[in-house]
Amino acid sequence: MPVLSCILFCRVSTIFSNVARFTPVILRNFVISCLNIPIFFHISCLLILTQYFIFARGFIPRTIFMGEQMMKILVINCSPVRNGATAEIVSIVKKCVEKENTVDTVCIDDFEIKLCKGCRKCNEIAECFQEDDVVKLMKKYDWADRIVSVSPSYWADVPGQFKVFIDRCTPWCNTHVPHAKLASGKKGYVIALRTGSSMLECERVISSIEHFYGHLEIEPCGKLGLCGVEFKENLNGRLEEIKTFCELIKSP
Ligand SMILES: Cc1cc2nc3c(=O)[nH]c(=O)nc-3n(C[C@H](O)[C@H](O)[C@H](O)COP(=O)(O)O)c2cc1C
Repeated sequence: MPVLSCILFCRVSTIFSNVARFTPVILRNFVISCLNIPIFFHISCLLILTQYFIFARGFIPRTIFMGEQMMKILVINCSPVRNGATAEIVSIVKKCVEKENTVDTVCIDDFEIKLCKGCRKCNEIAECFQEDDVVKLMKKYDWADRIVSVSPSYWADVPGQFKVFIDRCTPWCNTHVPHAKLASGKKGYVIALRTGSSMLECERVISSIEHFYGHLEIEPCGKLGLCGVEFKENLNGRLEEIKTFCELIKSP
């Protein structure tokens, strides 16, 4: 044992003394080789590192640094339930997109919306005779560049509260003249969820909302269907799907 320790000590001290002896040479060679590398290589490395810290680590939102326009995004909970699965998706979407954009979230139940009477007066004067919160909600649509509707399936369609709102948007419907108009260039997205397992039913909900977007001249730009979701707990394990969809919402 003492012999082994002695040999080991000798080996280690030899290594250290060699390193100590050659350190100035190694350092000098390192400095010389650095000086020999063209300056633009150093600048490129510096730029890559800076971009990594700014963008990948998210120190400064890309929109601010690059002077890109921040978008205004409206996320709507089309369900009357304020703390259910739909509300949970709304808050996930908000968290995903709010770093680079201005986000407003609403729940359809925040608004007092009377039933459409089917009188068709709005076909002539482009507004409804009823006074309630429809115009208030439509002002939010007008404010937004991107609209994200998150809707559960209630009997294979949007919840009644949201359907009433759609009916009351007839003054903005582009099938008759005159009609009220939202600012142009808006993009629309839909996330539909349901308890059952067939995606066909999510597609029905999505197509109701995209039909609505079409008549308001909001361009449908993305859809996501989530089956097997009854309560917010059922969203555990679906986060990646939703986050990937948010990338689409954020894309220029
Ligand atoms: C009145 C009502 C009708 C529903 N109809 C359906 C249906 O037809 N198909 C389905 O898969 N789920 C149906 N569901 C379940 C919802 O789509 C599901 O629970 C969703 O996650 C509800 O989200 P929320 O609690 O945020 O409103 C229904 C739920 C309610 C309350």
